[in-house]
Amino acid sequence: MDLRKSVLWTLTIVLCELSALKCDNVVPQAPPTNNYTVTDGNVTCVVMTAGIRLTIPYVTATKNDTVNITIPQNGTTYSGMCSKPDGTNQLNINFLDNWNLTFIFANSSTVDNSYEWQLAILSYIIDSYYFPNATNSGKHNLTLTFPNGTNAAQYNGSYRCDRTQDVPLSNSVTMTMVNLIYRAFGSDNQTDISSSRVSTCLGSHGISPETDLALALAVGIALGSCIVLTVVVYVIASRARGHKNLK
Ligand SMILES: *[C@@H]1O[C@H](CO)[C@@H](O)[C@H](O)[C@H]1NC(C)=O
Ligand SMILES: *[C@@H]1O[C@H](CO)[C@@H](O)[C@H](O)[C@H]1NC(C)=O
Ligand SMILES: *[C@@H]1O[C@H](CO)[C@@H](O)[C@H](O)[C@H]1NC(C)=O
Ligand SMILES: *[C@@H]1O[C@H](CO)[C@@H](O)[C@H](O)[C@H]1NC(C)=O
Ligand SMILES: *[C@@H]1O[C@H](CO)[C@@H](O)[C@H](O)[C@H]1NC(C)=O
Ligand SMILES: *[C@@H]1O[C@H](CO)[C@@H](O)[C@H](O)[C@H]1NC(C)=O
Ligand SMILES: *[C@@H]1O[C@H](CO)[C@@H](O)[C@H](O)[C@H]1NC(C)=O
Ligand SMILES: *[C@@H]1O[C@H](CO)[C@@H](O)[C@H](O)[C@H]1NC(C)=O
Ligand SMILES: *[C@@H]1O[C@H](CO)[C@@H](O)[C@H](O)[C@H]1NC(C)=O
Ligand SMILES: *[C@@H]1O[C@H](CO)[C@@H](O)[C@H](O)[C@H]1NC(C)=O
Ligand SMILES: *[C@@H]1O[C@H](CO)[C@@H](O)[C@H](O)[C@H]1NC(C)=O
Ligand SMILES: *[C@@H]1O[C@H](CO)[C@@H](O)[C@H](O)[C@H]1NC(C)=O
Repeated sequence: MDLRKSVLWTLTIVLCELSALKCDNVVPQAPPTNNYTVTDGNVTCVVMTAGIRLTIPYVTATKNDTVNITIPQNGTTYSGMCSKPDGTNQLNINFLDNWNLTFIFANSSTVDNSYEWQLAILSYIIDSYYFPNATNSGKHNLTLTFPNGTNAAQYNGSYRCDRTQDVPLSNSVTMTMVNLIYRAFGSDNQTDISSSRVSTCLGSHGISPETDLALALAVGIALGSCIVLTVVVYVIASRARGHKNLK
């Protein structure tokens, strides 16, 4: 009887661990968060932190497909300009093979004493390495201009978005950003972002509601099945013992 009991308990634990493992797969992997800075002489004007994933559609002879490209930690470089003639700050992120993502920050025309992230420009290349069997290979440029007054932060202050943000660069290309923090128009060599004068995106709570719900559901289901299983095993075990005791 003791042998059967321990086999059952072992089985329960193994099943619980399996369901917990499955829960890991339910939660999508976030793109790695990278740090970017733009320094010109003795001034660091832009400091930015973000994890970025691009969802890009392409065409093959037999289907319309999409590929997710994450801006990696390895092999990614960045540069930029602090004193452009038009008074903007520019951050260039170079990744993969000649892919470029450019962020342009400008004085806000609608919010006093503030700057805003005004433009995002993506240059990407559809090739057979990242887009197997693509028939629409070649270079593509996409430019997104935000409406005046969006993404604004005060001078000497920063912008933060804690939730996962899907930024449409075109009808079909989406830039997904996590842990976005930036500060532009810095006037000294500081590279840390002050935690005062922080502007946040709509719905920034410190966690992503969608991911959070998915995680909560997955953990809940895993935990729930563990409890049900344990009860079932307990009942079976006590019945078995009960039969034996009656005999
Ligand atoms: C980015 O900067 C933060 C704070 O300085 C640091 O903790 C983190 O390790 C950096 N991340 C990378 C990928 O360098
Ligand atoms: C891909 O999408 C376009 C436009 O929606 C459509 O015209 C075309 O037939 C699709 N191609 C394939 C292979 O499904
Ligand atoms: C791309 O990522 C999204 C989640 O952001 C996921 O739903 C989708 O299945 C992924 N597509 C591919 C081709 O991996
Ligand atoms: C990044 O590069 C380092 C050293 O070159 C290597 O050890 C590490 O495995 C690489 N990471 C990824 C994710 O490729
Ligand atoms: C941006 O605003 C700053 C401070 O208000 C000002 O000194 C600067 O001239 C403005 N730049 C442009 C291009 O308007
Ligand atoms: C992207 O950056 C690379 C490296 O800095 C550069 O050689 C290339 O011309 C850039 N491409 C575009 C389209 O700006
Ligand atoms: C946005 O601001 C710029 C000046 O910074 C101005 O030229 C442009 O007309 C404004 N656009 C709208 C839609 O108000
Ligand atoms: C690309 O096409 C080849 C032959 O046409 C096929 O064997 C292969 O599976 C395709 N690859 C993908 C990722 O669709
Ligand atoms: C994309 O932009 C780069 C730099 O601005 C330019 O050199 C290139 O010709 C553009 N490519 C296309 C396809 O428009
Ligand atoms: C920003 O901070 C620097 C020093 O930290 C100060 O000299 C400057 O006046 C501040 N700018 C604004 C617009 O508050
Ligand atoms: C940066 O260097 C310039 C001259 O190259 C100097 O005039 C300026 O005061 C310096 N700024 C700081 C914050 O050290
Ligand atoms: C930053 O600037 C301050 C004053 O302008 C200077 O004393 C300090 O050495 C600079 N630090 C670095 C790392 O350049």
